[in-house]
Amino acid sequence: MEVVILPTAIDVGELAADVVVRHLQSSARPVVGLATGSTPLPLYRELLSRSTNGLPVDAATLFLLDEYVGLPADHPSSYRRFIGEQLTDGLGVAPRSLHGPDGCAPDLPAEAARYEAAIAAAGGIDVQILGLGSDGHIGFNEPGSSLASRTRIKTLTEQTRRDNARFFADGEVPLHVITQGIGTILDARHLLLLVTGAHKAGAAARALEEPVTTMVPGSAVQLHPHVTVLMDEPAATQLTLADYHRATWSAKPPWQRL
Ligand code: F6R
Repeated sequence: MEVVILPTAIDVGELAADVVVRHLQSSARPVVGLATGSTPLPLYRELLSRSTNGLPVDAATLFLLDEYVGLPADHPSSYRRFIGEQLTDGLGVAPRSLHGPDGCAPDLPAEAARYEAAIAAAGGIDVQILGLGSDGHIGFNEPGSSLASRTRIKTLTEQTRRDNARFFADGEVPLHVITQGIGTILDARHLLLLVTGAHKAGAAARALEEPVTTMVPGSAVQLHPHVTVLMDEPAATQLTLADYHRATWSAKPPWQRL
């Protein structure tokens, strides 16, 4: 696991864009896993600004991590609509290349199985972008989620519903979601975890420096052989190893980075 601490969230977005662009360029049919929420927005803005010079997205397949149950794709707060507005519409991604779990499917367990099969049929995910919830979740795998879990329905914690109320005009966050499982996420070949803001410092320290536990689903990234964690300074304030990570990064020759 490589942990890189950068001054600001903008710097995190720029370095994350380097990683995503490298994946887009290094495969004939790249498969990218997308997170929603606030954390990846500087990355998505950076990708959009680089797209004016041409980003190789035509051959890419994109998979969302999760979706709210009961929200149609065109609902203003659905993750499908969010990613369209924040990234994929601007990049010119064809709708058939963007996949997300259907939170309105009549048979949600069957939809979860279909989603797993779609990821497998695409050849698996090359790089999975992740954010970290303030309660330690990744995707919508809340504390207590099995580390072997696959795509399924989950219930959101009160904390996550409070955290995400800002995305809903009436502040009413659905109780249920359909999310890639921790096992699904760990199948991606490269995990790119972005953590920014002082409000994430506690969750980041628990996820990166304490033993792996279902109570902090983000700690599961410690089990993965290729993880890049990009953090801003406020998110790194509770890391015991922060100085070590800064020194390691600054001493690295460019060809060894990430
Ligand atoms: C979003 C997702 C979540 C978020 C997390 C952090 O698709 O799966 O795990 O990454 O809730 O959200 P923000 O970035 O809004 O703090």
